[in-house]
Amino acid sequence: MKFFIDTANLEQIKEAQALGVLDGVTTNPSLMAKEGITGKENILHHYKAICNIVDGDVSAEVIATDFDTMVKEGEELAALHSQIVVKLPMIKEGVKACKYFSDKGIKTNMTLVFSAGQALLAAKAGATYVSPFLGRLDDVATDGLHLISEIRQIYDNYAFETEILSASIRHTMHVINCAKLGSDVMTGPLSAIMGLLKHPLTDIGLAKFLEDYQKGN
Ligand code: E4P
Repeated sequence: MKFFIDTANLEQIKEAQALGVLDGVTTNPSLMAKEGITGKENILHHYKAICNIVDGDVSAEVIATDFDTMVKEGEELAALHSQIVVKLPMIKEGVKACKYFSDKGIKTNMTLVFSAGQALLAAKAGATYVSPFLGRLDDVATDGLHLISEIRQIYDNYAFETEILSASIRHTMHVINCAKLGSDVMTGPLSAIMGLLKHPLTDIGLAKFLEDYQKGN
């Protein structure tokens, strides 16, 4: 299972990278705005900075909603760095653009996916990644994990190569449950990754080991 971090915060990306378990980064316009990164040139510069920190794929989202401008923006993003994955919204024009980019061998991430039907279309269009938004479904009292299992089943039935990138992860149990369901990738905040570390018995056990070592020295 690949671990992506879902942020545009360079310090958090560096911290996850330093742990040695990071496979990539996802961003979106809201995450960029949260870091105060605004304006096209600053945003493009920030994508490059992220690519220079991590080794893996970095999703960069188009803003356009029509095919021609999506293609123009996506090509510009893809030309920035070899690690860039063009992130496209799950709308009709986005599906067309996904097919365009996959035919050209440019990696894509279909975002804002909330149904199995949308995920099936993304795979048919040759998406590299499909991003079902688990947490946002949970937010509206719908079982986000059920969607992950439906997509897994559909993709396995037909050996689709599109990777399931479970997105909108909010906490460590989302990560664990996605792993149990066979999600290829998860993207979440640093807290969800670091939360996997924690267990009070580990801390108690380590304190006892160190205490006993000190007694004999
Ligand atoms: C996915 O790529 C999105 O950036 C993200 O996971 C959305 O998460 P949120 O629902 O916590 O905003």
